[in-house]
Amino acid sequence: THSARILVASNRGPITYTEDESGALTAKRGGGGLVSGLSAIDSEAGAVWVCSALGDGDREAVRRGVGEPGVRMLDIPADVHHAAYNGVANSTLWFVHHMLYQTPLEPSFDAEFRRQWASYETYNRAFAEALAQEAADGASVLVQDYHLTLVPRMLRDLRPDLRIGHFSHTPWAPVDYFRLLPDDVAAQVLDGILGADRAAFLTRRWADAFSECARAVLGPDALSGTRIGVHGLGADADFLRARAHEADVDDRMAALREQIGTAPDGTPRRAVVRVDRTELSKNIVRGLHAYRQLLDDRPTWRERVVHLALAYPSRQDLAVYRDYMAEVQRVADDINERYGTPDWTPVVLHLKDDFARSLAAYRLADVALVNPIRDGMNLVAKEVPVVSDEGCALVLSREAGAYEELGDDSMVVNPYDVVATAAALHEALSLPPAERAERTKRLAGAATALPPTQWFLDQLRALEGA
Ligand code: G6P
Repeated sequence: THSARILVASNRGPITYTEDESGALTAKRGGGGLVSGLSAIDSEAGAVWVCSALGDGDREAVRRGVGEPGVRMLDIPADVHHAAYNGVANSTLWFVHHMLYQTPLEPSFDAEFRRQWASYETYNRAFAEALAQEAADGASVLVQDYHLTLVPRMLRDLRPDLRIGHFSHTPWAPVDYFRLLPDDVAAQVLDGILGADRAAFLTRRWADAFSECARAVLGPDALSGTRIGVHGLGADADFLRARAHEADVDDRMAALREQIGTAPDGTPRRAVVRVDRTELSKNIVRGLHAYRQLLDDRPTWRERVVHLALAYPSRQDLAVYRDYMAEVQRVADDINERYGTPDWTPVVLHLKDDFARSLAAYRLADVALVNPIRDGMNLVAKEVPVVSDEGCALVLSREAGAYEELGDDSMVVNPYDVVATAAALHEALSLPPAERAERTKRLAGAATALPPTQWFLDQLRALEGA
């Protein structure tokens, strides 16, 4: 204890353990953009990453003292973690920042929510205490995301000597929407983050929204003690290119090509690809509706195109996520029933998480569909052009953080506009190969401008310059 010079704190850590029937523990890489970005910490000697034990496997690993050097998993009581992670972070804060509430019906901040909020405070305190214990004198601490908004203020009170940064991987809600939160909760979230020396965001847009919320809720001087930063996170080109050419990815490509099949004229069918956690903000259902609209509006594409949707399970403890997964499945089945023929399956849906298959899909995609309602950045939009074999057209939501960097070479869509998204898919499918390749090259350049290592080190340097 009291020895780490650099610390990272996030709910999801770099690895997660599963226990098989024989009691053996196997480690697997954690998912999501946050973990991809923070992989750079591996290279920092003496760094410590504090994260939650997320399931039975992780808890068992903590109990047995199994672990990776430099990773400290917190075994927070399961009911406290559940209330903080599922109740507050992923239901309330995630929904506010991604504007997912249907406000005539929800949210409703009742007594149950107040109990969850108390758990969120307990869970944040557990992180603050662990960080206070691990950190050397004057160390730098990088606190990540909406799960841990209260940590910077709590940690500042425990250890005034530390340099503290907070980074948000999500969008930040516009002020009128943010104020759906109970006033005291809104104030605590903002004041918690403002306990940091620096609060940073993926784009200027989210940083400005945060500043506006802070001034509106806490008063005009709210930002005086904290610097606001912007660090766009890019794709890790070296890692992706190497990984995308391993044998298991080639195998997955062959299998996917088989499923996509050939058009009546004998040429390979075009593939409209999407890869997401099955997440309400990713707008998968409207994407399917847009694809159906394309088949309606442009019958010439029938039998010549396949929508390959990789929709991996996420946050399955929450009923809305389970329902959304079922809805994705139902709409895909509908389209296949309506348009499919004995040798054409219009939508090929994969629901089982498989990173090698994601890379295979990236390589063979003719069009990538990235149409989130709102998204902090969206790394899929950045990863596809990097590993694409023959160039890929990008249909991109203007509400994704990645739009700021990739918008110029994409077909940009309003994610709610299904008809316009269908038109963009047609345009993307029709792009001449030479232009498609040119655009892909420029997209890949923009997508890799800030590789994760750089992103991480920039934050650290900016904090240390404080
Ligand atoms: C987003 C969040 C991350 C989170 C990831 C995966 O990218 O910003 O903090 O880890 O989603 O979500 P999960 O609930 O599986 O950790």
